[in-house]
Amino acid sequence: AAAPPVLRGAALVRFARAVARDGPLEAMREQQDKLGSVFTASLLGLLKVTFLVGPEVSSHFYLAPDSEISQGNLYEFTVPIFGPDVAYAVDLHTRNEQTRFYWDVLKPRSMKANVAAMAEEVENYFWRWGDEGTVDLKQELEQVLMLIAGRCLLGREVRERMLGEVFDLYRDLDNGTRLISTLLPYLPTPAHRRRDRAHRRLRDIFTEAVRSRRNSGRDGSTDDDVLQRFIDSRYKIDGRPMTDAEIVGLLIALVFAGKHTSAGTSTWIGAHLLSDSNQKHLAAAVDEQDQLTAAARRDDGAGQHRPRGGVDHDAIQQMTALHRCIKEVLRLHPPVVAMVRQARSDFTVQTREGEKYTIPAGHTVMSTILVNHHLPHIYRDPHAFDPQRFAPGREEDKAAGPFSFLSFSAGRHACAGESFAYTQIKVIWSHLLRNFELKMVSPFPGTNWSAVVPEPKGKVIVSYRRRAN
Ligand code: HEM
Repeated sequence: AAAPPVLRGAALVRFARAVARDGPLEAMREQQDKLGSVFTASLLGLLKVTFLVGPEVSSHFYLAPDSEISQGNLYEFTVPIFGPDVAYAVDLHTRNEQTRFYWDVLKPRSMKANVAAMAEEVENYFWRWGDEGTVDLKQELEQVLMLIAGRCLLGREVRERMLGEVFDLYRDLDNGTRLISTLLPYLPTPAHRRRDRAHRRLRDIFTEAVRSRRNSGRDGSTDDDVLQRFIDSRYKIDGRPMTDAEIVGLLIALVFAGKHTSAGTSTWIGAHLLSDSNQKHLAAAVDEQDQLTAAARRDDGAGQHRPRGGVDHDAIQQMTALHRCIKEVLRLHPPVVAMVRQARSDFTVQTREGEKYTIPAGHTVMSTILVNHHLPHIYRDPHAFDPQRFAPGREEDKAAGPFSFLSFSAGRHACAGESFAYTQIKVIWSHLLRNFELKMVSPFPGTNWSAVVPEPKGKVIVSYRRRAN
């Protein structure tokens, strides 16, 4: 097998300029047209990054063991954010056990307990909107998601503080996580100093919550939140429970992992569903909610006066039209646009056209999620918003095998919060569609590519009017 074609010198500079000018999707597609679906960018021969475009060349990246392709020290930048007791700051064995804790507390079966708490937060939050008005949707959704995170992950003790100090502290963590931070996480910049201060303060607040829960004598029967489930978790190797510091580190990480990913996705849903060209998709989503509300009214015989709230876990499972809208937004705007790994041994990939390339140990390897999601041999008319592409009979994401839809990554390091994310977004959007007529009054937003998790650029202004019961 051959070495992949190389992008270097002036061509590499032109590529970097194109990324800055046109965004990563256009720039990557242009390179793919020129060089094919596997190519290496070489920075003075010192740093070699091999791009893998498309599901056909992605299986080793996602499925090979850490001994062959690993996260290496590429995630060092998370250590000042999550602290010294968890994730990439600890040895691989402890990290794997901690990953199991994430998966245990966030597994789909645990979502049942969360739906009621999420719905209560959502109803209370949007009750404040009154009958009609205009809002910045992005800001509103960020806030309600913080309240949900507070309630379902951290527990009632911290929930009360989510919109004040904790919200601002997370902003400092975010602002201390830019491109430069991924390369030089310990550079003493003002933003990094603010990040470190925010981390220390969050540690204090969350530690107080863990201690007060431990001292309260309450247990899983009174508080079924992630904090309680972490307190009850045990390491397999020696049966010990987690220390306060470990629980705090995992909680900081969970809120961080879910915050922008969910807020950006929820806002893009508004931008797409409320734009004039997607009226039929909006109508289908509203119709689905009205049918679910009518069915719930029939079931409990509450007649026409039942409020349009009251979603439960079963109703969430039945929201297939809304589910497809969320998935389509995640295809068009994956919050994590690319994943990076370090090749620890040589490996060979075969492209769709049958060419074989060997990627040598030592290369940084990048899976281009955003580009995979726009490949025309997988997705028909890939730039169009078309939730029906996931409907039975079409299922475009399955046609080319796995790795065509990668918003939650895949394989051994996939997102542990996928089910939590879908659930909270459905609770929010089902409430909005059931209770309000909404209209986007600002133009369709562009993408802010400079954020670590690209989000809608600027404000997304929406006017609303409460629907009659
Ligand atoms: C990891 C996407 C929401 C918890 C990841 C990864 C992706 C991802 C791509 C892999 C990152 C990497 O390896 O570099 C998303 C998207 C979300 C979302 C698109 C929302 C739309 C959430 C939420 C939570 C969460 C709400 C928690 C409540 C996690 C955790 C990991 C992770 C714990 C690390 C898993 C591990 O280390 O094995 N997520 N995420 N995510 N996500 Fe999410």
